[in-house]
Amino acid sequence: MRIGLLTGGGDCPGLNAAIRAVVLRANAARDDVVGFHHGWRGVVEGDVETLTPASTRGILETGGTMLRTARYHPDEHEGGVAAVQESIERQRLDVLIVVGGDGTLGSASSIASIEIPIIGIPKTIDNDVAGTTRCIGFDTAVATAAEAIDRVHTTGESHDRVMVVEVMGRSTGWLAVCAGLAAGADAICLPERLMSIHELAKAVQSHHDAGSTSSVIVVAEGAEFFDCGATGTGSVGATVASDLVALTGYETRLTVLGHIQRGGMPSAADRLLATSFGAAAVDAAHDRAFSSLVSWHDDNVELRPLETVMQGCRPVPAYLLKLASDLTIC
Ligand code: F6P
Repeated sequence: MRIGLLTGGGDCPGLNAAIRAVVLRANAARDDVVGFHHGWRGVVEGDVETLTPASTRGILETGGTMLRTARYHPDEHEGGVAAVQESIERQRLDVLIVVGGDGTLGSASSIASIEIPIIGIPKTIDNDVAGTTRCIGFDTAVATAAEAIDRVHTTGESHDRVMVVEVMGRSTGWLAVCAGLAAGADAICLPERLMSIHELAKAVQSHHDAGSTSSVIVVAEGAEFFDCGATGTGSVGATVASDLVALTGYETRLTVLGHIQRGGMPSAADRLLATSFGAAAVDAAHDRAFSSLVSWHDDNVELRPLETVMQGCRPVPAYLLKLASDLTIC
């Protein structure tokens, strides 16, 4: 069997572990693997390298993706899907394994619907791909963000400051709620809960009136406040910080964690998940289970229809949202 492989969309820790697992499993079955560079763009441009156990040695614990990545969707470009089809034929591929988030896998789903053999693997620090309860990269990003918030706590306490920390996650609060709870944030502002900046300011004021000298406020980049205008990375955190200064008078500092959350070594859990997904994708190809999403459910790898990814973002469960309001000041 000849297998094509790509990683698309935003990078995350664990992609190299998935690449390595595909190659090792394929090698054991005497399959050949070629990797496309820069996600779907490499398929369209025929930018490809042969992957072997030797060329993927030593990548398990490294961040990023050795295949590199791009936010490129062939189905949104004229002639893009035909170019994908030609490239797959030119490479004589039996299957294309696509590692991506909702955008990359959305393209995979639409291209698979024209009988191109594709298997998807979900990855994103946002953890919001529909059809799986875990995405590669999320566990590491939560740990990285939680550690950063821990560090913000100690400097905030030393200076008696309000510390606002903006966390990635696009339009979902998975990363913010998990990292915020794990690091004991005093307030967690999420896209899932429309907030009031005046209520938040009052809560911070009461917290300090009750004896606290500092507060750590985690703000998801997609959080919305009906009484404060900003949206977008770097903007919502900055607006919350400046509004809190105006409303409370407390000295306030902003930390935007940004791409630090996407970089660096994958956690052991992400390496294990990525390894399980990579091997399962090759097995699925042998079973001709095309148009499938390799996914995580009940401590097990399962196959779901690839089109499940089109259902939209997987929501943060209600119990986490409740914890985020019950165990914080707001
Ligand atoms: O989807 C992953 C993610 O890290 C989001 O959390 C974030 O909004 C976005 O990617 C940032 O994308 P880029 O690296 O293209 O700026």
